[in-house]
Amino acid sequence: TRGPLIVLGTVNRDHVVFVDLHPLPGQTILGHSYETGTGGKGSNQAVSAARAGAAVTFVSAVGDDSAGAELLADLAAKGVNVSHVTRVDGQPSGVALITVSADGENSIIVAPGASASLDPALVSGTVADLVEPGSVLLTQLELPLPVVERACLVAHERGARVVLNLSPMQPVAEAVLAACDPLIVNAGEAATLAESRCESVQDAHDVAQALAARCRSVVVTLGGDGAVVADGAPARHFPGETVPVVDTTGAGDSFAGALAAALVAGAGLDDAVRSGIQASALTVQHVGAQPPEDWRP
Ligand code: RIB
Ligand code: NA
Repeated sequence: TRGPLIVLGTVNRDHVVFVDLHPLPGQTILGHSYETGTGGKGSNQAVSAARAGAAVTFVSAVGDDSAGAELLADLAAKGVNVSHVTRVDGQPSGVALITVSADGENSIIVAPGASASLDPALVSGTVADLVEPGSVLLTQLELPLPVVERACLVAHERGARVVLNLSPMQPVAEAVLAACDPLIVNAGEAATLAESRCESVQDAHDVAQALAARCRSVVVTLGGDGAVVADGAPARHFPGETVPVVDTTGAGDSFAGALAAALVAGAGLDDAVRSGIQASALTVQHVGAQPPEDWRP
């Protein structure tokens, strides 16, 4: 590898209930099995990248509760460096309440807990210390927006490559988008950001081409239909893999983690996208939010 991979983002305890259909407002439904596991978009991306072979340093926060200690122990066991995760006194660790319907689609509520109290100046200081030319910063939008924006700008100034997954969607400053190489968006996020529709592979081509003018490169992910990439060169489509879907939770995170791991190892963007597609196709085939332990790209 050419430099370290820094993943900035949340870690949550996921509480997952499998249901036939998602509940409607005001409705009580009976579900099937219940599972708990380590999640959070940041931590899922960190684990995916580590399983793809990257040396990952995770920048995050947990509370001073037992969940925090357990989450960190789990991440460390999965090969992620957690020495830059802050323990916030008097706050609970992040929690995600997840329902997964019979078709594998999820619905997620996050109570951020400790991650909401991360300070933009402190975090960007940590990121500044960790990055160097050749390193990659991978992050998403589950942390407070100022934390993510400032970290991206600092990393970019220091010569690191910034990979931002625009999930969950928040309105990000254009200067931050401009630093992204790539910006990773799903079809819904792409449509919102480009203010146009993204309902087919052809739409995704058009939207990716339009968004590429606002960042260094963009990847539009399309679930089972793969992904479309645009940068200086014409937009191109990478097909998805047809697999039996059990639980889509973390599919996008697995994609981003594997993509960033490939980039930091020196791969081109096209090969990095292929690796991301492989990781997410594996993640959707089992319960939980990360690619399987024995996956190697
Ligand atoms: O992207 C999936 C993740 O979103 C879950 O692990 C949950 O914790 C939320 O962060
Ligand atoms: Na899964």
